[in-house]
Amino acid sequence: KIIILDFGSQTTQLIARRIREQKVYSEIHPFSTSLEKIKALKPSGIVLSGGPCSVYDDDAPHSDPALFDLGIPVLGICYGAQLMMQQLGGRVERAEKREFGKADLLIHQTDGLFAGLESDAIHYQVWMSHGDRIELLPDDFVVTATSAHSPYAALRHRTRPFVAVQFHPEVAHTLIGTDILRNFIFAICNCSPSWTMHSFIESTVAAITAKVGDSRVICALSGGVDSSVVAAIVHRAIGDQLTCIYVNNGLMRTGESEAILRFFKETSKLNVIDVDATDYFLGQLQGVVDPEIKRKRIGLGFIKIFEEEAGKIGEVRYLAQGTLYPDVIESVSYRGEAPIKSHHNVGGLPEIMKLELIEPLRELFKDEVRELGLELGLPEEAIYRQPFPGPGLGIRIMGEVTAERLRVLRQSDVIVLEEMKKSGWYRQVWQSFAVLLPIQTVGVMGDGRTYENVIALRAVDSRDAMTADWSKLPYELLGTISSRIINEVRGVNRVVYDISSKPPATIEWE
Ligand code: XMP
Repeated sequence: KIIILDFGSQTTQLIARRIREQKVYSEIHPFSTSLEKIKALKPSGIVLSGGPCSVYDDDAPHSDPALFDLGIPVLGICYGAQLMMQQLGGRVERAEKREFGKADLLIHQTDGLFAGLESDAIHYQVWMSHGDRIELLPDDFVVTATSAHSPYAALRHRTRPFVAVQFHPEVAHTLIGTDILRNFIFAICNCSPSWTMHSFIESTVAAITAKVGDSRVICALSGGVDSSVVAAIVHRAIGDQLTCIYVNNGLMRTGESEAILRFFKETSKLNVIDVDATDYFLGQLQGVVDPEIKRKRIGLGFIKIFEEEAGKIGEVRYLAQGTLYPDVIESVSYRGEAPIKSHHNVGGLPEIMKLELIEPLRELFKDEVRELGLELGLPEEAIYRQPFPGPGLGIRIMGEVTAERLRVLRQSDVIVLEEMKKSGWYRQVWQSFAVLLPIQTVGVMGDGRTYENVIALRAVDSRDAMTADWSKLPYELLGTISSRIINEVRGVNRVVYDISSKPPATIEWE
């Protein structure tokens, strides 16, 4: 495996993904990871990531310089490159001209990182983002590539396996990024491409079986991709020792979780307890208008019902949960952010119920979870389902949630889903859905005046939900959705399209 020491760059996760795409396992660790821990991880190579600091700042993050004595190949990227130079005896200073965005790279030596590319001939497009530059090279380092503002755009040690690039090979704008990373992991680190979903399933199933023994495990099935894949892999490992609990909070989209439940009950013969708590949740939401109170009530209600059902199973030792790698990395690095909305997940449950956790997806990115799900035989529509928030339609009805408003929103939402799927846009956007605005506006239908609700359509493009832009859906599609909703759903006489990006808006309306 390759380990990446994180100095806080926005693109650290991308480095891990790019390496895994080459079927080599990679993990991100904080820059401050001790030498003992690094040795214990037995990496075939180490990548020092970029980061927002300057190496000469007083509080600049430094990894242990003794890692250069381990005999393990090291690739420094941007800040990581500068740190390598500084720790090995060179000098880094603030650059007069900062370099941001595209730059032309001229390669001078095609061994090492640039094997297979052309030297001194073509300018290769790379992506730079730095305000400092290397002024003095440590002994025995040679320049292997330059750009207009970086005389030391890429470097390598004459005899030891240390290489450094001032630009970012992990981003798509660096067109030769994959070649460079491949050269590092295969030629310099001698890794072999053996990390596949098939091998992941084998090792994960073995680990779950060993850990669980003959204890019982429960998991909360939501119908979403992550919990479905968790259920499938844990079930493969321990069969009937797993019981899944599906809490219907009455706030789901029409038909969506039914489909996944049918699959689990009928095709894969999983133990599923299916609780319909619609009345309980609607009771809890009666008269509640404040979005945060809605979220809290739905979250607490879920915990209560889940606990009640779990209590009926008898002695349970473990809770299986769909924590993904980005959640894990965010909790080890130092970019803590204040929560904008209190997200609903099963956090809190393990402490309340004194359960130990099984998190088989902890090492995976979302697209890897999808790949895993397909490999485990889950139906495609479950795998490519758009994300759906835990509080469900409850946060897509502005103001109080009532049964009648849920009916209006569900019927509208089904039309959005149908038309998005029919036109092929469903998979091209991150999310697409309807929001009910219970404000009345005047319309005319037939010869009569109407005074009814507004439906807002929301469709966004995003990579990770942290930022998003509104999707440029074709006018014809928007037109079809609008006229179908107004004609088919009683209680709606107007449809609008939300054209705000995140930030400053958010994806959901509450
Ligand atoms: P926002 O509205 O914060 O949403 O831009 C970002 C992403 O998170 C989803 N979302 C949730 N997911 N529990 C979830 O599991 C929640 O409480 C929750 N709230 C928002 C939202 O659909 C979007 O994909």
